[in-house]
Amino acid sequence: MAKIDYIEEIKRLKQAKNAVILAHYYQKPEVQDIADYLGDSLALSRIAANTKADIIVFCGVHFMAETAKILSPNKLVLLPVKKAGCSMANMIDDKSLEEYKLNHPEVKIICYVNSTAKVKALSDVCVTSGNAEKVISQFKNHKLLYVPDKNLGAYLREKYQLDMELWSGYCGIHNDINVAEVEKVKTKYPHSELIVHPECKLDIIKMADYVGSTKSLLNYVNVSDSKEFIVGTEKGIIHQMKLANPNKSFYLLSDKLSCHDMKLTSLTDVYHALLNEQYEINVEANIQVNALKALEVMFELTDR
Ligand code: 13P
Ligand code: SF4
Repeated sequence: MAKIDYIEEIKRLKQAKNAVILAHYYQKPEVQDIADYLGDSLALSRIAANTKADIIVFCGVHFMAETAKILSPNKLVLLPVKKAGCSMANMIDDKSLEEYKLNHPEVKIICYVNSTAKVKALSDVCVTSGNAEKVISQFKNHKLLYVPDKNLGAYLREKYQLDMELWSGYCGIHNDINVAEVEKVKTKYPHSELIVHPECKLDIIKMADYVGSTKSLLNYVNVSDSKEFIVGTEKGIIHQMKLANPNKSFYLLSDKLSCHDMKLTSLTDVYHALLNEQYEINVEANIQVNALKALEVMFELTDR
């Protein structure tokens, strides 16, 4: 049997079916390379909301494909690996949040996009790491609850002096980084700038020269005069950093910075997703409507 040229087949199927491939920066390099659009959570959600394609193949994790479906309910949204999920998104369930809301009706709920559609539907506004500061600073005069990432929440609370409770979720990858290992890497590469994602713990964020979403970290290394960087986020982003800056050096802060679920998707999975139109993501109509409201408030406040 002839060997399948997955890249050529993906291109052919994509065109034949009017599909678009979206990939997060944490995907494997070869998956990033075949994407029509590559981005962080914010950029990809904007593309998902505006694409003219009939099919969105989302190379990422479940909450990202679900967000695309909320934003484009009439399109076929596919997640190439059915079990690709996010441990942080699973650290909050809608029943507990519903109960919190009943007991605290005065509190505005700010929801990190790394969450399920049901949780978004119970929230007043969504944020991504790329717009959290801009959005949340417009809620300064309210009592707030931030779900589910306690680390990004703690960073925002301190920076903007917010009256905000935090849910106890976290990203297992970013949360695992500790001060001792950061000090060790900084000693090893003394001329480097330390750049980190705000899903890291606050004590790590405070050691950094720059903090931002994956896209903003990429923008930063592109414009910085420094020649060396210690990268404190998931290792997938280094592929783009190197492509854009062949003369700069990038050191991953820790080997722990690899998201198992983000790395599940292969070119074969993308091919099968297009060929068999799998795995379809669906969101119940009433949940879609309410989750969309929280996302639309986010876009409105981001674009102000
Ligand atoms: P951003 O894409 O917003 O940087 O978020 C990182 C992340 O954890 C995605 O799962
Ligand atoms: Fe979830 Fe962390 Fe993986 Fe992002 S990197 S998908 S937050 S587990």
